[in-house]
Amino acid sequence: MSIKLAEALKPFCEKLRSAIENGSEIAVITHIDADGITSGSIIATALARLGARYSIRAVSDMNTGIIESMRIENRDFYVITDLGAGWASDLRKALGDRWAVIDHHQIPEQEILTDDDGQILNAWKYGVDGGREVPAGGMAYMTASALDKKNRDLSCVAVVSAVADRQDQGDKRSFTGLNSEILKTAQSLGLISVELDIMLTGRETRPLHEALAYTSFPYIDGLTWNREGCHALLKNAGIKLKEDGRWRVLAEFSEEEKSAILDAIAKFVATSSKAATRIIDDLIGYVYTLSGEDKRSQLRDAREFSTMLNACGRIGRAGVGIAICMGDRNDMLSAGEEIVSTYRTTLRNYISTIFADKWRLVDDGRNVFVNGDGLVAEDMLGAVSSLLSGSPSLGGRLLFVRTLTKDGTYKFSSRKALGSTSQANLGLIMRYCAQTFKGAGGGHSAAGGCRIPSSALEDFMVGVKAATGDPKFATTS
Ligand code: C5P
Repeated sequence: MSIKLAEALKPFCEKLRSAIENGSEIAVITHIDADGITSGSIIATALARLGARYSIRAVSDMNTGIIESMRIENRDFYVITDLGAGWASDLRKALGDRWAVIDHHQIPEQEILTDDDGQILNAWKYGVDGGREVPAGGMAYMTASALDKKNRDLSCVAVVSAVADRQDQGDKRSFTGLNSEILKTAQSLGLISVELDIMLTGRETRPLHEALAYTSFPYIDGLTWNREGCHALLKNAGIKLKEDGRWRVLAEFSEEEKSAILDAIAKFVATSSKAATRIIDDLIGYVYTLSGEDKRSQLRDAREFSTMLNACGRIGRAGVGIAICMGDRNDMLSAGEEIVSTYRTTLRNYISTIFADKWRLVDDGRNVFVNGDGLVAEDMLGAVSSLLSGSPSLGGRLLFVRTLTKDGTYKFSSRKALGSTSQANLGLIMRYCAQTFKGAGGGHSAAGGCRIPSSALEDFMVGVKAATGDPKFATTS
């Protein structure tokens, strides 16, 4: 861990401890995505274990309306997780010193310089790359384990947050930096095991053809969400899908059989898409298994766990995800399973409509603008752009997906697509271009987002195109 972070954690935890000991009503405000759900839950669990009076809720993004509602609600103390970057002065105006932020989004230099009371625990302040080395879940875990060593059992939830935020960007989807330290803790406690394998969704739980169909990263047009197609492909390739009348799961296949499976997928991609070269590479990587979860559970694979949390947040049921992260394995887990299934159906409809309606995709070979107006619900936008970013047909591009929201503003979500070598920092581009047109945005080098007034749409898109080629917005990390 960086020494600067270790030093910052002490006074930061003191602040939290004194709020707890004073009997303050603490409100945890977190983001609706999987990293928000994990980070908020880790902090809420730590607070609960210390006997704090607390509540937790998840919101789509930080904005003036949310800050105003916090001011009116007037809780004694606010802990804001996975949100708040760039909002310190507004928070200070509304809440005085009754707030703390735990985050990993890049923050303006000014915000670091003016954080005199150490209210912001942000990775970037301590020389840690919050886009690749630690998400908010990891920062919340560092806080929780500094509050009490017993909270080290939450390291497995932090691992889920890291895969959820696509921070498994090392060789073969390994972790780097603080994430790998947290992973080591989880491994040493026997909570997580790590294996190199084909990264199919449900490698221990679903019949092979189903596992392939449920795998959406990479998104393979014709296979993803097409159970029958996957069944036909594997069967025709001579893969033995059943044994003694029972479907076999990926974990039961030999290495030789796994190569045959990969060959079959590679052949399919080669005939259906121009960008086949990376696909096999993208399918093999480290899988992170939560050893304490039931063998048949969707929570056993960290990536599936994160999908469930994302689904909960994106369809407005973040509370279910929070309950699961905080340990509920009964009703809430069943609710989570249903939510994932609804979420998959919704996403499938969005993606097939986007690819079918040619006018929705404007691709100049470098940037792709995707128009989700009248189709994509605003809370699903990030999920849609993440999914499209794994599509070999959009490989190498910068992706900007938009939708018109209920309040008449446009929301954008941007991603670097599979194989992109662009140096552009999407978080900086989203923040700068949105601010130019009286909007707000931010994010990381590989994933950004923003909201802009509808009247600014055309000029904003011209600005974004120019910014993607401007070295001023190149990532330095
Ligand atoms: O919503 P989406 O998943 O596309 O967001 C990508 C990244 O951009 C996230 O890290 C999110 O926190 C950030 N973002 C932001 N401000 C917004 C929208 C997104 O900082 N208005």
